[in-house]
Amino acid sequence: MSTPDRLHPDAPVADLQAWWMPFTHNRLFKDQPRLITGAQGAYYTLADGRRVFDGLSGLWCSPLGHSPPRVVEAVQRQVASLDFCPGFQLGHPAAFSLAARIARFADRPRDRVFFVNSGSEAVDTALKIAVAYHRARGEASRTRIIGRERAYHGVGIGGISVGGIAANRKTFAPLMIPGVDHLPHTWDPAHMRYSRGQPAWGAHLADELERLVALHDASNIAAVIVEPMQGSTGVVVPPRGYLEKLREICTRHGILLIFDEVITGFGRLGAPFAANAFGVRPDLITFAKAVNNATVPLGGVIVAESIYDAFMTGPAHLIEFFHGYTYSGHPLAVAAAHATLDEMETADLLQRVRTLAPVLEQAIHELRDEPQVTDIRNLGLAAAIDITPLPGKPGLRAFQIFERALDKGLLVRFTGETLALAPPFVSSEDETRAAVDALRRALRAVPAP
Ligand SMILES: Cc1ncc(COP(=O)(O)O)c(C=O)c1O
Repeated sequence: MSTPDRLHPDAPVADLQAWWMPFTHNRLFKDQPRLITGAQGAYYTLADGRRVFDGLSGLWCSPLGHSPPRVVEAVQRQVASLDFCPGFQLGHPAAFSLAARIARFADRPRDRVFFVNSGSEAVDTALKIAVAYHRARGEASRTRIIGRERAYHGVGIGGISVGGIAANRKTFAPLMIPGVDHLPHTWDPAHMRYSRGQPAWGAHLADELERLVALHDASNIAAVIVEPMQGSTGVVVPPRGYLEKLREICTRHGILLIFDEVITGFGRLGAPFAANAFGVRPDLITFAKAVNNATVPLGGVIVAESIYDAFMTGPAHLIEFFHGYTYSGHPLAVAAAHATLDEMETADLLQRVRTLAPVLEQAIHELRDEPQVTDIRNLGLAAAIDITPLPGKPGLRAFQIFERALDKGLLVRFTGETLALAPPFVSSEDETRAAVDALRRALRAVPAP
């Protein structure tokens, strides 16, 4: 095989075979690799020396841009002083102060925070807390979990069980947790195509939860889990009033409401969490990604005080919740999170998101008349466009646009027939508009079927 020109000479093709890459068409990639060799601020450097704008903030996880000096210094300092600390029966001060800080940041100062290492672990942890909580209160029959179609809740067995993306579920059916049901997703092009921000239509879709409660009975349902804004499936924005209705129905039936904020947490919607942006208070919030700018893996679950208290009842010398990870509260991840929150505060990055969001909204909706565009959605500093698929070749056209965009200096995310943008918070208005313009040129560069 000849060496493709995008491959760095230091990485011969044979070297690419050992890593079975995640969510990647391995054979195609290894035949035509796209290698990244560096990153600084809002830009990646490719192996051939080109700089490309990071249109998705990593994988929705690096809102400060790459290698922000404050975070780099914090991690360097930390690795030299306390590189690891067991979190079982021991702890280091910064993990406790970070938990309190995250609870305050979420405007839930009395809540507790359980640390994990990823969004998938955060979801599985939240599901376990929900089921164990009801059992601790003497309602052991409440084990069923309600997820939602199109949802992405990571790749743990719990997460794919409540998730709603067929490709992630179909191969693993026998392993998945039983006793799960799904709400319908809220995207309906007939009523909300080209909505700017929250669609006005669709709050009634939350009433489907009443139907599921009638079917299974509330006494068997532990929790409902939703992404307040569905990210991975392509920026599906909740209709106005929908989340409020879910909250009201859950409260009425004693069902816990979990917001999976792995993408929306830490500022993406211009508020600390989507829960703050929408004024809806879930019982548990999962987070990961932007909490520490993705410098070191970190995730967690914010847990209402009353839930925590329900566990704190037996003899004090017994472990209350048999769950945790070797790296829960890892010192490097915690140091990176403190530095990330410092930077968010001092640079007032939530305000920056609120300033950039209308710029992105205006620019992205100008793509409406471009070839093959069938819908455009946006909220906060996130936007997606849907395109017509190539007949008989699902996903291929979006991949081609992704490649053309890369040629034009933009890294955009594609899944199915959707292309998503979520620029770093540190982007300028010009960079935001330029990213959309690169996407426009990429759309035009891929011929119609
Ligand atoms: C809403 C949501 N939950 C969970 C996850 C899984 O996170 P991770 O890939 O860190 O396991 C993701 C990842 O994109 C996500 O968007």
